[in-house]
Amino acid sequence: MNTETLEPTLTEVNMNSHSLHIKNIAVIGAGTMGNGICHVFSQNGYNVNMMDVSQDAMNRAIATIAKNMDRQVSKGTLNEDEKLSSLARIKTFTDMAAALKDADLVVEAATENIDLKIKIFKEIDAVAPEKCILATNTSSISITRIASNTKRMDKVIGMHFMNPVPVMKLVEIINGYGTDRATTNTIIDLTLSIGKVPCVVNDYPGFISNRILMPMINEAILSLQEGVAGVEEIDTIMKLGMAHPMGPLQLADFIGLDTCYSIMNVLHMGFGNQKYAPATLLANMVQAGFLGVKSGEGFYVHTPGSKELIVSERFADKKWKM
Ligand SMILES: NC(=O)c1ccc[n+]([C@@H]2O[C@H](COP(=O)([O-])OP(=O)(O)OC[C@H]3O[C@@H](n4cnc5c(N)ncnc54)[C@H](O)[C@@H]3O)[C@@H](O)[C@H]2O)c1
Repeated sequence: MNTETLEPTLTEVNMNSHSLHIKNIAVIGAGTMGNGICHVFSQNGYNVNMMDVSQDAMNRAIATIAKNMDRQVSKGTLNEDEKLSSLARIKTFTDMAAALKDADLVVEAATENIDLKIKIFKEIDAVAPEKCILATNTSSISITRIASNTKRMDKVIGMHFMNPVPVMKLVEIINGYGTDRATTNTIIDLTLSIGKVPCVVNDYPGFISNRILMPMINEAILSLQEGVAGVEEIDTIMKLGMAHPMGPLQLADFIGLDTCYSIMNVLHMGFGNQKYAPATLLANMVQAGFLGVKSGEGFYVHTPGSKELIVSERFADKKWKM
């Protein structure tokens, strides 16, 4: 068993030796996760090259980072000078070779699609300096499979940040089959240096986070599908009974039902076990475009700017299609 939990202590952070050679970090993909990853690295003194195929996505990402840092300033957790110097450490690129020229580490956070990730990693491997570590923020794709498309399997690793990155403490670190110990140590120390808690796991479908979380969400959807209870009852039971901050159906809406569906398929195919088969209701909702927050409706109706929880009309009747 090679699973370890490390609580960062001041001593450990100060003794951080392995990550000292990391100064320049390139982040590929400037979406939801990419902007948060750039935020935490720049705030902790690293030079960040943000790279995306879309300049618009990067403009939006910089605006989001600035807005989130303003919030930190108003809370007193960051001062104005630190905000300005952090923002100045982030540069944007649409050209991969230029973004990676002096990179000590690349963190890939592009769209969750296996063919796209393999294409990106081949490109990264061709242009990144030889010593550069290649990390991916994938939620479910095999690190070993990604690494096997590079000539530096020992330096490829999973660095799975949680959403929203500036707030969530955990980084799930995933060792691919060929990842060497030096790479893992460097990423552990880097994680500690940005004030987050690393947990190291091995490369099996869904790693730990999604192997446990997604079947719970899928089971909630199956319970709804079978008419055992309604949306509100299922989420209330898990919130008040199990002290979860939000119910599994609300969480599924936040994650995106398409993402949940794709992760369930990775688990189902990866383990070849029927217990991971995605719920038919989940498949139907994805095919019909009811994806949760991102499409405006999933199990709940989501209106921009409103935090009110309104169950979708489609599930208003508790005995829906029993
Ligand atoms: N959203 C979450 O809650 C979450 C949580 C943990 C991990 N992840 C993982 O993080 C990764 C990114 O997810 P996201 O939610 O930020 O996605 P997103 O759709 O918000 O952003 C993806 C970005 O990748 C860019 N991109 C696409 N092709 C590219 C290419 N060839 N080169 C450079 N950039 C490219 C897109 O333009 C877009 O800006 C995925 O692997 C996802 O599984 C997501």
